[in-house]
Amino acid sequence: MPTRDQRETALEAAGYNLFGLRADKVIIDLLTDSGTGAMSSAQWAGMMLGDESYAGSRSFYRFEDTVKAITGFTDVIPTHQGRAAEKILFTAIVDEGDVVPNNTHFDTTRANVEYQGAEARDLVNAEGTDPAVILPFKGNMDIDELRRTFESTGADRVPLVMVTVTNNSGGGQPVSMQNLREVREVCDEFDTPLFLDACRFAENAWFIKVREPGYEDKTPREIAHEMFSLADGCTMSAKKDGLANIGGFVAVNDSDVAAQCRNLLILTEGFPTYGGLAGYDLEAVARGLEEVLDENYLKYRIRSTEYLAEKVYAAGIPIVRPPGGHAVYLDAQALLPHIPPYEYPAQTLAVELYRNGGVRGVEIGTVMFGRPDPNGGPDEPAAMELVRLAIPRRTYTQSHIDYVAEVVIDVASEAEAMRGYRIVEQAPWLRHFTARFEPIAPGGGGS
Ligand code: F0G
Repeated sequence: MPTRDQRETALEAAGYNLFGLRADKVIIDLLTDSGTGAMSSAQWAGMMLGDESYAGSRSFYRFEDTVKAITGFTDVIPTHQGRAAEKILFTAIVDEGDVVPNNTHFDTTRANVEYQGAEARDLVNAEGTDPAVILPFKGNMDIDELRRTFESTGADRVPLVMVTVTNNSGGGQPVSMQNLREVREVCDEFDTPLFLDACRFAENAWFIKVREPGYEDKTPREIAHEMFSLADGCTMSAKKDGLANIGGFVAVNDSDVAAQCRNLLILTEGFPTYGGLAGYDLEAVARGLEEVLDENYLKYRIRSTEYLAEKVYAAGIPIVRPPGGHAVYLDAQALLPHIPPYEYPAQTLAVELYRNGGVRGVEIGTVMFGRPDPNGGPDEPAAMELVRLAIPRRTYTQSHIDYVAEVVIDVASEAEAMRGYRIVEQAPWLRHFTARFEPIAPGGGGS
């Protein structure tokens, strides 16, 4: 339990970037839900059965069978995590000058598209960038915009369409089956493959079950299967809805694309039956993918996120509504209207949550998605200024979450005193991981 003085020292040493903190200086770590969950006893037991054969291990076939059974895709390629799946898939099928539409690209997905010299275009529906409006499927893609993108770009310059379920950068909001069907129709019209960024597919399936008419009596597994059946492939980070600490995959229905991916895999990740993972990791993912579709697990998971959202919202704190599946997103722009996007209101709020209570969240705003001005002017702002409090799976208890709510409420009461930050050091891409900041006014408020 680091003291306030220790947290202050840690913040300064980290250049006010919460990614730079040592984890033992954090009291409640809501930086991410990725790889931070607790594995079940069945997963740990399964790891003891890990077959570490270099080629053709039993663990790979268990993993492959599970992924095929849930997704229905014909070719399954393991990778060490989601971004490796993205890098391999995009290297195989995305060329310079292409446009890749997505409801909203997450940070690594966007960076991997841009790294190929292509444009990552976000086409979420207008309500998806309005934190306050309450609608069931704010992750949906804008179908008219998608069609317009095909018409203006030319289908030959759109190598794939992606839909991220749930929409992580946009408040963890789900995508409806109806919207997936409509995206599929447009993809068919322009003869272009559709891929899911499937990191949180089970949470999305749960939202469809409870919010979309006609799905109330279907199991999450049946719903997930239907979601995947509308796509030609997916990338997956098993660190989220694989309930594992590491792992991922690309799955496709196209054997030529699969062959290209496997060749790239051998270059950087490993042989196609382990893809950068140990046999025991493949076992953990295989079991995790089954457990994550358990109705009781999903009900508890979604409810516990909602519980935190209700507490902070009841105290008058603006959040993205309704709450997402894996996280509560605080609306920093609404809470700190006096701090302009180029002085990073969400970064400011995230720093204060840590300073005040040792709670580590993550900025999803202009630091992560804004564009630096090449002439040294203010950054082009992101669509929203959010602080994401991501809830690791099966890890924290209700009393931990009560503490988080108390910290958020306490910090919000000092909003007016907060001042923004400037960036003093940044990388050419994915700057949020390593950038260093300086408070614009000493203390940054909130003390
Ligand atoms: N796609 C989405 C929607 C993600 O949320 C992430 C990771 C990735 C792809 C990349 O997967 O981390 O296994 O390489 N999101 C984490 C987060 C890091 O904090 O939301 P990865």
